[in-house]
Amino acid sequence: MYGHRHCERSEAIHLAAQRKNGLLRRFAPRNDADRSVLYIQCRRPPTGRPNGRPDLPAELKAALDARLEGLSRNAAAGRAASMSRTYRDGGGSGAIKSETDALAYALARMPATYAAVVASFNALHEIRPDFAPASLLDVGAGPGTATWAATEAFSSLRHFILLDANDALRSLALDLTRKSARLRGITYEPGQARSLLGHADAADVVIASYMIGEIGDAEQKALAELMWAKTRDTLLIVEPGTPAGYARILALRAQLIAAGAHVAAPCPHDGKCPLASPDWCHFSQRLSRSRAHMQVKGVELPFEDEKFAYVALTRAPVAQRPARVLAQPDVSKVEVTAKLCTPSGLAIEKVPRRAKADYARARRWRWGDAGGEEKTPISGRPGAGRDP
Ligand SMILES: C[S@@+](CC[C@H](N)C(=O)[O-])C[C@H]1O[C@@H](n2cnc3c(N)ncnc32)[C@H](O)[C@@H]1O
Repeated sequence: MYGHRHCERSEAIHLAAQRKNGLLRRFAPRNDADRSVLYIQCRRPPTGRPNGRPDLPAELKAALDARLEGLSRNAAAGRAASMSRTYRDGGGSGAIKSETDALAYALARMPATYAAVVASFNALHEIRPDFAPASLLDVGAGPGTATWAATEAFSSLRHFILLDANDALRSLALDLTRKSARLRGITYEPGQARSLLGHADAADVVIASYMIGEIGDAEQKALAELMWAKTRDTLLIVEPGTPAGYARILALRAQLIAAGAHVAAPCPHDGKCPLASPDWCHFSQRLSRSRAHMQVKGVELPFEDEKFAYVALTRAPVAQRPARVLAQPDVSKVEVTAKLCTPSGLAIEKVPRRAKADYARARRWRWGDAGGEEKTPISGRPGAGRDP
């Protein structure tokens, strides 16, 4: 994930968990045959195709700008502040009722949820660079955020079906896609996801972005089962990067692994998550804020860091699942310290400066990166065995 920033609170918790679990270990220089070596590559756009960028595509920005003409920024800011209070108090997007509400939501939240979905698709693309889906089913599509992100991530996508119960967001999505060469033919069905999914066509990629948290636990299970039934290849679930968002991802991950799914990202295994409370698995994606975005949020900083949690589940096991960097590594003149989820458990790698090439590589590791190949098993709590 490009340009993400160190999250101090998360880091404090990660470090406390490391100390508690006794996971600190040293990274051996590659010529030290007695010790285990684990290679992680810095995230780079795969060759042949650029990774999706975290900022809204120009076509979507232009469509949003056109909708903003004549809209009072104060009114939008007021609605955005009220919606954000609703979200903080545990409410959902049911408060979005009017055109102004929908636009305020799109201005305030669409850039961040878009960035999180792009980052998740980038991670998936990195693990499966040849994946070229033709169809997408976007469940709880709202203003079409995840569909736009998928379009950027996969030039192969041709068929788009979006489902949502919110009329204001649906009508905004249809308006934003009206002039898009690739998206003007989307099918956007209004109604409850569960009943719509019952008769929806299966798709190569099914996505639920920032949606699962809006429904109850029992409903989440039923919806996950239905979404999996409609998934020909990959199901991506993205949630806010909070402990509660992570818990939802974990529950659906376990449910669907039991139903035969395999994890493509972020986990390098189908086993139990090795993180122990109060730690939780989440990532961070930096995105820039437009002037309208800043006005609606009432902020001056021209960027923000969106924390998110995700899981990409596939029907077939992926060929290789490299370790993943779980927090922004600590780089000192002496060593690089990185927290990794590996195919065999959690590890804290310490790469000393004297291991020149490894140190240089480790300096480029970023929170969320994947890559490399575990050469020998390492210590730490193994993630062996599939989730029940
Ligand atoms: C927070 S918004 C996220 C929208 C979009 N996926 C995104 O990432 O920006 C959640 C969306 O889920 C929709 N939603 C929640 N529960 C739903 C349900 N039971 N059936 C259909 N849509 C639902 C809401 O209407 C809303 O559009």
